[in-house]
Order: sequence, then structure tokens, then C-alpha cells
Amino acid sequence: MPFKSLICAITLAFTAMTAAVCDIEHAAPFWGASSSRTDHFYSTNYAQINNSRADGYEVQGRLGFIYRDPVVDSTIFFRLYNPTNYDHFYTVNSTRADEVIENQGYIDRGYVGYVYTTDICGSVPLYQLYKASATDHYYTANKTEADNAVSNDGYVLQGTAAYILPNL
Ligand SMILES: *[C@@H]1O[C@H](CO)[C@@H](O)[C@H](O)[C@H]1NC(C)=O
Ligand SMILES: *[C@@H]1O[C@H](CO)[C@@H](O)[C@H](O)[C@H]1NC(C)=O
Ligand SMILES: *[C@@H]1O[C@H](CO)[C@@H](O)[C@H](O)[C@H]1NC(C)=O
Repeated sequence: MPFKSLICAITLAFTAMTAAVCDIEHAAPFWGASSSRTDHFYSTNYAQINNSRADGYEVQGRLGFIYRDPVVDSTIFFRLYNPTNYDHFYTVNSTRADEVIENQGYIDRGYVGYVYTTDICGSVPLYQLYKASATDHYYTANKTEADNAVSNDGYVLQGTAAYILPNL
């Protein structure tokens, strides 16, 4: 085996081993806020969440943990915003991100952090809910809250947006 391939194989094996445990050390709290203009807004920056209160947002607390910087097996979690409908939308799918920018009036707001796309290392689903009448994406890792939003608030459960580290 050529030396480079050997190094590559070792690196891959090491990556697979280390991925078994979530990188808790580098995780950052993932905060949420909501506004009566029917927008849900998320950030790892508590000051940003706290400042949103000046714009009528209410701090909703911590959903779990994500990463500010890439870690093994993580994926960028894009952040998009529709200023006409006041909707923050988060996705790991870059094609989908491009699509809503081109066709649905969303603006590229960079990324909110890094997440997983599978339930590796003890990560949990971050559910994505959507209310078309309010153009509102709502995210929660709490299944009871997701079910309540569907039963009582007219949201549709669209699936799992990402996998995040659970609230401890
Ligand atoms: C949140 O913002 C308020 C002002 O609106 C400030 O008094 C308070 O100290 C802030 N809290 C934190 C934890 O930053
Ligand atoms: C990503 O988004 C595109 C465009 O909406 C869609 O066709 C594709 O199925 C999505 N990929 C995944 C993995 O969901
Ligand atoms: C999930 O949401 C329900 C309803 O709001 C709440 O009673 C419960 O404490 C939450 N569970 C966790 C683990 O936060």
C-alpha cells in the first residue's frame, strides 16, 4: 500500500472511532426565540437572542447544543431569512437553500453553526415544523412540543432538519 493511502486509511479509521462520541467539548448552546410576528429565530450567540427582545422576540430557551466550528462528521447548517414574511429558515441542504433564495425571496444569512445529518454519537433529531399561513419555520428537539404545534397550532411536521446534541 502506498504511504499516502496508508495514512488515509488510518485517518479514516481514526475518524470512524472518534465519531462514536459526540464532540461535547466543542459544542455550543443552541438558543431559540420567537416573535408574535410568527417568526422563530435560532442562534448560538446568546447576546443576539437576548437583543432580539428589543424587536419583540421572546427567549424560548436552549434546544440543545450544536457547533460553532466544524467537527468530525458535522455539516454546515445554513441560515436564510425572508424579510417580507419574517421567516428564518435553516437547512443542511445547499440545493434547497439556493432554491428558496431564487424562488421564495429568502436572503442568504450565512450559517447558524454545524450539525449532524444522522443520529451518530448520541445526537437527537431537530424537528422542522412549518405553518404555511404564517410562513413560519419552527424547530424543536422536543417531540412533545412538535406534536403540540401540530395538534394545537396548525404546524405541519416536515421532518428532521438536522441532528443536534441533546439538552443535558
Ligand atoms: C439581556 O438584555 C437585557 C437588556 O434588554 C440586559 O439587561 C441583560 O443583562 C441581558 N442578559 C444577558 C444574560 O445578556
Ligand atoms: C435537497 O433539496 C433539493 C431541492 O429541494 C431536493 O430535490 C433534494 O431531494 C434535497 N436533498 C435531500 C437529501 O433531502
Ligand atoms: C418537552 O416539552 C413539554 C411541553 O412543553 C415539557 O413539558 C417537557 O418538560 C419538555 N421536555 C424536555 C426534556 O424539555
